[in-house]
Amino acid sequence: MFHVKRGFGFSISGVCVINPLAMFASLLLPGLGFVILSTQHFSNQADKAVFVHFMGHVISISNQKGGVGKTTTAVNLSASIAAGEKDCLLIDCDPQGNATTGLGVDPTTLKQGLYDILIGDMPSEAAITETLLPRLHLIGATRNLIGAEVEMVSMERKEFRLRNAIAALRQRYDYIFLDCPPSLGFLTVNALTAAESVLVPLQCEYYALEGLSQLLTTVKAAKRGLNPALRLTDIVLTMYDSRNNLSRQVEDEVRAHFKERVFKTVIPRNVRLSEAPSFGKPIILYDIGSKGAQSYLALARELIGRE
Ligand SMILES: Nc1ncnc2c1ncn2[C@@H]1O[C@H](COP(=O)(O)OP(=O)(O)OP(=O)(O)O)[C@@H](O)[C@H]1O
Ligand SMILES: [Mg+2]
Repeated sequence: MFHVKRGFGFSISGVCVINPLAMFASLLLPGLGFVILSTQHFSNQADKAVFVHFMGHVISISNQKGGVGKTTTAVNLSASIAAGEKDCLLIDCDPQGNATTGLGVDPTTLKQGLYDILIGDMPSEAAITETLLPRLHLIGATRNLIGAEVEMVSMERKEFRLRNAIAALRQRYDYIFLDCPPSLGFLTVNALTAAESVLVPLQCEYYALEGLSQLLTTVKAAKRGLNPALRLTDIVLTMYDSRNNLSRQVEDEVRAHFKERVFKTVIPRNVRLSEAPSFGKPIILYDIGSKGAQSYLALARELIGRE
């Protein structure tokens, strides 16, 4: 028997299968209690109900501004949640394929990906690729995704293609993350139509807020016209440098304006986060002791705690 206080704030007991990575993560971050329980070991209906509530939560990670940390957040947040014994799917909606490479999968040799389910009508299950983390799956970006925006133009209900394609997967995963390209084209619109909520990584720099109003206008338009269930937008501050006045000013301004929609957890600028993709690994497999890994584990905990 094993007793543990979970991140949700109540305790449960049961026989547990312990995932060594999750165990290590929880040792580093004592508050990350939820990580060590396998879902099939929930001991009562109330626990199952909490779990069921999380089924199929779809989060679009969007910002039309380039290089703000969308992919770094998509890869490392999904990996951190998967290390917490939750089933996660990351869908690489960006033809650049950075989330695909970041998880150690080569877009040039990948056989099936998002293109095939958006354009080719392949069943979404067939496009799923496994990753180094057992609970994290990927629908990758193959090179032909670059043509998808143009090919979709003449299709009927083109804004709903991703939503329809992944409908069958919502019951299979606790969280589905959509890594968007740096544009507000059809791929991003498809992600906003498929999502329940939008997570905006905001880089702590001078022009950070400029593009935000344009993004929020697009999100509102998507909510009005395509996806009434789309919830408000959450913001996570990325590449934060506490020694830099500008980072603090941006933080103050964003928090004053967006209040509780801004995650308390801030992602610092951390060189290990920028190194990890070249090894095809999320940060928790590359350097779990780094500040970058700890911040994404904390973000994962805060996200789950918010639900
Ligand atoms: N917290 C961080 N600390 C240090 N480097 C970071 C951090 N977050 C991201 N980077 C680096 O900054 C660059 C841009 O990050 P990333 O690719 O995640 O941004 P993006 O918004 O997905 O970019 P794009 O708009 O091109 O898709 C990458 O080289 C990444 O490794
Ligand atoms: Mg990216």
